[in-house]
Amino acid sequence: MTKKVTKVGLLTSGGDSPGMNAAIRAVVRTGIYHNLEVFGIMRGYSGMVENDIFKMESRSVANIIQRGGTILKTARCMEFMEPAGRKKAYDNLQKHGIDGLVIIGGDGSFRGAQTFSNEFDIPCIGLPGTIDKDIAGTDFTIGFDTAVNTAVEAIDKVRDTADAHDRLFIIEVMGRDAGYIALHSGIATGAENILIPERKTNVDDIIQSLEEKSKRKKLVNLIIVAEGDEFGGANELSTYIKEKLPALETRVCILGHIQRGGSPSCMDRVIASRMGYHAIECLIEGKHNVFVGIQNNKMHYTPLNEAVKKKQRINEEWMNIVKILAT
Ligand code: F6P
Repeated sequence: MTKKVTKVGLLTSGGDSPGMNAAIRAVVRTGIYHNLEVFGIMRGYSGMVENDIFKMESRSVANIIQRGGTILKTARCMEFMEPAGRKKAYDNLQKHGIDGLVIIGGDGSFRGAQTFSNEFDIPCIGLPGTIDKDIAGTDFTIGFDTAVNTAVEAIDKVRDTADAHDRLFIIEVMGRDAGYIALHSGIATGAENILIPERKTNVDDIIQSLEEKSKRKKLVNLIIVAEGDEFGGANELSTYIKEKLPALETRVCILGHIQRGGSPSCMDRVIASRMGYHAIECLIEGKHNVFVGIQNNKMHYTPLNEAVKKKQRINEEWMNIVKILAT
């Protein structure tokens, strides 16, 4: 018999992502609808270790669905990695009578939750919140759509000035281990080249193609590079290109953390609301220690200990599209 959950602790962990607030709102209001008590835990697992926990009401989540960041704040907590830190966290949950957890974060946060649940028998539900979209088991993560649209808007602006000056721009987007933001934003902005961690970068091919373009007077070029590309980021690439092609006017633009902020898109608000609602349903139905994803527009549940970073296999067709459309 699975234990009935009555008091739910809710936290956001790891890098924030737009839509986390919409998910918080959905968890709180669905929980209250089902007569559960919901407790906010501040700054991820740190709040559990430090007993920074407070009771949430329906009004606690008023007017947040449209806000970026996370009202619960977030952190990467080292103490929780150690058994002593987790024991402290458990003792603090006990003080509030919390008997279930919802964790909004990435794969690392999910694995921490699974370890905690194994040690203390507290059911945990994960919601995938990361702009990188790098978790296997879901077609969407909360925040990706907003982040990629922020990148597209910024890259469009860079293109205006690149065009005015006939320049090559190398634009770095986020993605330490995953190239989804680079791939999607690059295709959407008509980039000539996209460099991602999942694919070997051949810089000499890029030089050759730039030389060929320069001969036919195509001087406006955008290259999108994910920060985690094995060749390096935009600065490394720019140094290399400037050495080989000194006549090209080359500039670098690093988009950085603007991609993590801002009001969530409609898409992120909707998936966050659906996932938050289902997190509570899972706790009630005894579907424990899973993270809630969406596949083919249906809810999909993956065991927390199977949450892994999704290494995408880049379909050659996508790269071919980039090449043909950017001539
Ligand atoms: O949340 C994912 C991410 O934005 C990565 O794309 C990036 O490499 C990392 O977080 C940056 O983390 P921090 O803000 O801790 O430097």
